Amino acid sequence: MKVYLETYGCQMNEYDSELIRAILKEKNFTLVDNRDGAEIVLLNTCAIRENAHQKIFHRLDELKGQKRRGEVKVVGVLGCMAQNLRKNLAEHAPVVDVVAGPDSYKRLPIMLGSVLEKNEKSFDFRLSEFETYSDIAPRRLPGVNAWIAIMRGCDNFCTFCVVPYTRGRERSRAPESIIAEASRIRAEGFQQLTLLGQNVNSYRHGDYDFADLMRDVAQQTDMPRIRFTSPHPKDFPRKLLHVIAEHPNLCNQIHLPLQAGSDTVLERMNRTYTLQEFYDLVDEIRETIPDVGLTTDIICGFSGETDADFEKTYQAVERVGFDSAFIFKYSERQNTIAYRKFEDDVPEEVKTERVMRLNELQRNISLERNRAEIGREHTVLVESPSKKNPDQWLGRTDQNKGVVFSAQHLKPGDFARVKIIDAGTNTLMGELLQDDHNPFQIVDAVPAVSGSTL
Ligand code: SAH
Ligand code: SF4
Ligand code: F3S
Repeated sequence: MKVYLETYGCQMNEYDSELIRAILKEKNFTLVDNRDGAEIVLLNTCAIRENAHQKIFHRLDELKGQKRRGEVKVVGVLGCMAQNLRKNLAEHAPVVDVVAGPDSYKRLPIMLGSVLEKNEKSFDFRLSEFETYSDIAPRRLPGVNAWIAIMRGCDNFCTFCVVPYTRGRERSRAPESIIAEASRIRAEGFQQLTLLGQNVNSYRHGDYDFADLMRDVAQQTDMPRIRFTSPHPKDFPRKLLHVIAEHPNLCNQIHLPLQAGSDTVLERMNRTYTLQEFYDLVDEIRETIPDVGLTTDIICGFSGETDADFEKTYQAVERVGFDSAFIFKYSERQNTIAYRKFEDDVPEEVKTERVMRLNELQRNISLERNRAEIGREHTVLVESPSKKNPDQWLGRTDQNKGVVFSAQHLKPGDFARVKIIDAGTNTLMGELLQDDHNPFQIVDAVPAVSGSTL
């Protein structure tokens, strides 16, 4: 049976799809990378905001037609939305045969079997306190970037957030298995590794913590670039800043979600830090890692957010000067603490206006910070041809800024030295640095990769 797997949502879901591919492959399912001709269609879904749900319902509508025409035999919904809606999902969308939450993937071959053989729908959303999938070797698509989930679940219960309900309790994977997987990834030719967790600060294995893990991955694998996401500002380990500063292969980049700039809103969100504590952390980060790239997430229009509260967020974004920010409209999620305790009382048009104002501010800040890069030199990791101009390359700096530049004789996975010559809001424009000895200045401290095509 041919299976087509579509992935929505965050990097954690990308990683889970690699696990699902491995689990199905082991049981002799054939995975195809084209929708056409697939008899089994699986959607690995997200539930973080209502539009994530809407996207899937829309997709399920399309699949209804395909199933009626006999083109598709089995439709499965996996991941966070599956866990969030459970059986209701199949009631709302009878096209769905299989519903499996993030801790149920090992049972997926049996579940698909029961649909195929007995024509019975199959549901499984038992969350586990132990499942880390550390015994499964993910099936990665070839490329430059690889991910490893070092922990699963979240115990923070930010009041707006559905993740603690869709992914269950926090659990960490043993360091030895993470380091072994990182070494394997490197041997396969990947140049960049991102360690993933909903809150990486909570990573723990006895006394061994996240900073220990970053140090050991940096020292024990020769992975040229290592990133992580996301840390929580409330308990960001200071030790980690020094570990990052001391290891050139730990990238100088931190994604630090602020969410809001008003202390009353932060408290209602259960973020458990104040704006001043966030500022102090940012100052310390910039002192320890002076050229750090800093990005954030912001929610506009959370329950009870007044104009004055929003102004505080606006001022905070202005003061910190993030390199970029993901700015979201608050979307009420069923089952969350905010759903039960607060009213979603900020009108839609106010949310929209706040998001637009903040986006405009952030665009100006990003542009200003990017323009400050003009004249500087960076080592970039070549990712892919540029989308706008396929004759040029898109590479990334250590700080994770995209640089578009022209060069022949390069391929994805190569490192190159570039000088920044111009800057826009989202990307930098670069020029390949040349010298007499090494006309293309490909950084050769890092071995070239064979077979790394995108
Ligand atoms: N664990 C990550 C967050 C993952 S969700 C972390 O804590 O950093 C990514 C972002 O989605 C969050 O940082 C938040 O800004 C946003 N988000 C989460 N729930 C939301 C909701 N109900 N409405 C709007 N945005 C939300
Ligand atoms: Fe959600 Fe908060 Fe956990 Fe992030 S830390 S996943 S925002 S509950
Ligand atoms: Fe990720 Fe969406 Fe789940 S952001 S953790 S896939 S709700």
